[in-house]
Amino acid sequence: MIVTILGFKGGIGKTTTAVHLAAYLSQYDKTLIVDGDPNRSASSWAGRGKLPCDLCDEQSAIKLAKSYEHIVIDTKARPEPEDLEALLKGCDKLILPTTPDALALDALILMLKAMPQGANYNILLNIVPPKPSKMGEEAIKFLEDAGLQVYPFVIRRFTAYQRAALKGVTVYESGDRMGKIAWSDYQRLGREVLNV
Ligand SMILES: Nc1ncnc2c1ncn2[C@@H]1O[C@H](COP(=O)(O)OP(=O)(O)O)[C@@H](O)[C@H]1O
Ligand SMILES: [Mg+2]
Repeated sequence: MIVTILGFKGGIGKTTTAVHLAAYLSQYDKTLIVDGDPNRSASSWAGRGKLPCDLCDEQSAIKLAKSYEHIVIDTKARPEPEDLEALLKGCDKLILPTTPDALALDALILMLKAMPQGANYNILLNIVPPKPSKMGEEAIKFLEDAGLQVYPFVIRRFTAYQRAALKGVTVYESGDRMGKIAWSDYQRLGREVLNV
């Protein structure tokens, strides 16, 4: 399976999602992260520590991909509208992370207008503030009402993710006391992606 993580803004957790989804999938099958962002943030992450899956850049991806069961592609922010169709053709699942704030949702909706008809994508509410904030649920409802395909769960905001990125590991290995709870959100996403 090829999963592409795409976003219309920086700082919405694309790289964090690519790393953790790949970590989830690698529990079951050989998984490769393809770092498609010229900023190389996924590569830097892996370089600072150790991830449970392999990682390569776009140039090596074609050769390496055949040895892997799952590929998770991390992309740069703001793809050109004309890139969207190619990106869609090149994957089985397209995941669009977004934070639940109005500016991010606006950027997302603007970009979805450029998405080809019938595109198979799912929006993932990411970095969602903890309860009692209702931002996550409200954003899901807003997007559903707009007729968009959105996952019915969210990835919550935890500082454990920053610690994980600094250490070059996944959130459950970050040493943060909330690491396992944070990881349960990506387990939910992983089950959804694997359809189990
Ligand atoms: N669920 C989360 N909770 C808290 N911080 C997060 C979460 N996901 C990502 N972050 C942080 O947000 C920032 C941007 O994340 P990143 O994955 O690099 O986004 P992008 O790839 O879209 O630019 C980083 O500092 C990262 O640690
Ligand atoms: Mg990134």
